[in-house]
Amino acid sequence: MPEIAYLIRPMEDADIPQVTEIDREAFPGESLFRPYTSYKQEIHNSLAHYIVACIEKGTGPKPSREDRQKKSWLKRLLGHHHLAISTSAVRNNLYSKEYIVGFAGFWTMLNEAHIIAIAVRNNYRRKGIGEGLLISVIEVATQLHANVISLEVRASNVVAQALYKKYGFRVAGNRPRYYSDNGEDAVFMSTDTITLAPFQAHFQRLKEAHSQRWEKIFTIQLA
Ligand SMILES: CC(C)(COP(=O)(O)OP(=O)(O)OC[C@H]1O[C@@H](n2cnc3c(N)ncnc32)[C@H](O)[C@@H]1OP(=O)(O)O)[C@@H](O)C(=O)NCCC(=O)NCCS
Repeated sequence: MPEIAYLIRPMEDADIPQVTEIDREAFPGESLFRPYTSYKQEIHNSLAHYIVACIEKGTGPKPSREDRQKKSWLKRLLGHHHLAISTSAVRNNLYSKEYIVGFAGFWTMLNEAHIIAIAVRNNYRRKGIGEGLLISVIEVATQLHANVISLEVRASNVVAQALYKKYGFRVAGNRPRYYSDNGEDAVFMSTDTITLAPFQAHFQRLKEAHSQRWEKIFTIQLA
């Protein structure tokens, strides 16, 4: 199994060009925020929360033997899972070497978090990164006192629906002709109350299984 060390952190203005690239690749019919400035507005909107998953530049899905033997900057800097880092020197070092491979965004309204998007670059899919982003979304939404998380997803998007169902999202409705590019319906999905024990128990089990399966996830100051 290829090893990818990645870190999840809040999105910043400098990330917008790479995030826009991922957005256009992942949502060719309906890029979320076509104009560059819309992402900027989103990042600075206090109701919106955007995160990115980054790898060290030059590493990829199939690293050479030599690359695998090198200790990555992440491994050297962050010796263990879910470490919070605050010093600007370390942050600058991380930022200068990053390649963004995925992002996620959600809005909070009253006690609900509504997922706007989760997307991973084509070449980096099926490596646990989308799931890592969803785990972070759930964690941040919980910290922000959301009770439920909801989203719309294309009726044909069985891959994303599988990810959401794994985390306890259920189909709660249908939005006919929701997508303007091809008139496709959206499926509206929602969780049970995320602060209650049944959801949390299921979530903690999945989170633990994810960290066992995909050893290298590091999270920096998400909320
Ligand atoms: C949906 C998406 C974010 C998943 O990202 P990913 O990094 O490839 O997903 P992961 O490797 O973390 O997989 C997590 C789970 O997602 C589901 N999944 C992912 N790829 C799948 C596939 N090809 N077929 C079926 N299920 C799949 C599975 O439930 C998987 O869990 P498992 O490994 O235990 O089977 C990615 O496919 C993507 O960017 N798609 C385009 C954008 C999009 O449709 N976003 C969602 C709408 S908002």
